[in-house]
Amino acid sequence: MASSLVTPTDGPRRLRSWQALATAAQSAREVHLRELFAADPDRGLRLRVTGGGLELDYAKQRVTDAIVADLVALSEEAGLPERRDAMFTGARINTSEQRSVLHVALRMPRGRALIVDGVDVVGQVHGVLDRMGRFANAVRSGAHRGYTGKTIRNVINIGIGGSDLGPVMVDGALSAFRNPDLRLRFVSNVDADAILDATRDLDPAETLIIVSSKTFTTRETMTNAHTARSWLVAGIGDEAAVAHHVVAVSTNADGVRAFGIDPDNMFGFWDWVGGRYSLDSAIGLSTMIAIGPDRFAELLGGFHSMDDHFRAAPAAVNLPVLMGVLAVWNRNFLGAGTTAVLPYSQHLHRFPAYLQQLTMESNGKHVTASGQPVDYDTGAIYWGEPGTNGQHSFYQLLHQGTTLVPADLIGILQPTEPVGDHQDFLLANLVAQAEALAFGRTAQELRDEGVDEALVAHKLMPGNRPTSVIFAERLTPATLGALVALYEHSVFVQSVIWGIDAFDQWGVELGKKLATAIADEITRPVEPDLGHDSSTNALIRRIRQARA
Ligand code: F6P
Repeated sequence: MASSLVTPTDGPRRLRSWQALATAAQSAREVHLRELFAADPDRGLRLRVTGGGLELDYAKQRVTDAIVADLVALSEEAGLPERRDAMFTGARINTSEQRSVLHVALRMPRGRALIVDGVDVVGQVHGVLDRMGRFANAVRSGAHRGYTGKTIRNVINIGIGGSDLGPVMVDGALSAFRNPDLRLRFVSNVDADAILDATRDLDPAETLIIVSSKTFTTRETMTNAHTARSWLVAGIGDEAAVAHHVVAVSTNADGVRAFGIDPDNMFGFWDWVGGRYSLDSAIGLSTMIAIGPDRFAELLGGFHSMDDHFRAAPAAVNLPVLMGVLAVWNRNFLGAGTTAVLPYSQHLHRFPAYLQQLTMESNGKHVTASGQPVDYDTGAIYWGEPGTNGQHSFYQLLHQGTTLVPADLIGILQPTEPVGDHQDFLLANLVAQAEALAFGRTAQELRDEGVDEALVAHKLMPGNRPTSVIFAERLTPATLGALVALYEHSVFVQSVIWGIDAFDQWGVELGKKLATAIADEITRPVEPDLGHDSSTNALIRRIRQARA
């Protein structure tokens, strides 16, 4: 809940449609999905939309047509059409950082003009894509060799947050499209085990290191990059090897130069790309090397098709708008504090982790864009695991626990490779779970099935758990791009309704500052004056003692 100590704002609660929804929610909370389907047997045929190559079935959300109409009205009253236009045309909608938000320009087709502050940003984007393409092709073909003349066989991306999670997720999702001769690794954690595990069995003379950092100041990434560089130089035996084996992806040319990487070996992007919105920028260099420039272009095409759909489709059939408003309904009107994302696709196993940054760093905010405290809940907690694994783990709580957990179930209709009946059984599980979550099993049904009376209460399945199902025909670069863009824009829709800035992340700064000071207190030869609380002081002393 939003803190009761804050002064309420005049945010969305004052809007007519919010008030209508608050009234509707009083009864909706008491209505079961069984009743919604009984009163409207064809809702399963009607509450489904397609766009950008994806299908969304939201018939098992706890809404009526009237509620959906009010939710759409809420988005419009909150100014979504204008905010969306402002984003697409480069207005500085990231107000706390005074920045444009133009990840949509990263996937605009060549030749499309978007002039922001007198600069053609689409031209800039394609200039970098062309350089990335030449470099990726050179690595893939063997034309770009290591310092000793060996072929590059390993690529290590060093980055964290948005400079890691997107490329990692895409690496899994598009593994069927990867060049099998190249081994891709990712290092994010500053725990030395990560870089040691990633390099232990590799020949540095065959390894390309991509240091990915928007700011080129992130301590974890810089620490890992220095360690990787030492490993490389020690293994090859010459400082000059760095120029052949280390490239940077960043917006900070000075930082890259200071690290010792020639800016000619840097692939740039811009401050109008947020870290968690950057997998389709130069941050995707490792992806492009793995899948090739043509497949990367298909990925961008998928993003762009969802952008076009978001921009042009009427709200009532607009996937990101519907997903966004349903998320607001579940969060603010049904009181759900968390959302599960359940891909029925092994290759999407890192998609929930990727979404956690996208959703929670964007919408985990306690003040509006103008700095006023909110008096309504904002972003939900996102988490998840691939089905069917989750079914044998945490689904028990989804079905019978006391917390309402709405879920997105993502299914891929065609298998990557047909093997026996795997895909049919996988998809059968997706459908079965959505059905069980919605309708459950009543005591009467259990008795009719002959269940022992002593077990009826235990076996009772309350149901009424809302789900959406998202289908893609195949998991291709294009459908993956569309899927990511769908969630990006859904997050944006939610932020517009909540009146918050989805593109800053001030909440991560305090921890970074404290960690820098505490690292110094841990490593000083003589214990400095520790001015923290008694618990923090004791923890620091315990670590110093362990070091001694
Ligand atoms: O600490 C959070 C954050 O700033 C994210 O927003 C970002 O994706 C990540 O750190 C990495 O930042 P950078 O790419 O500048 O190293």
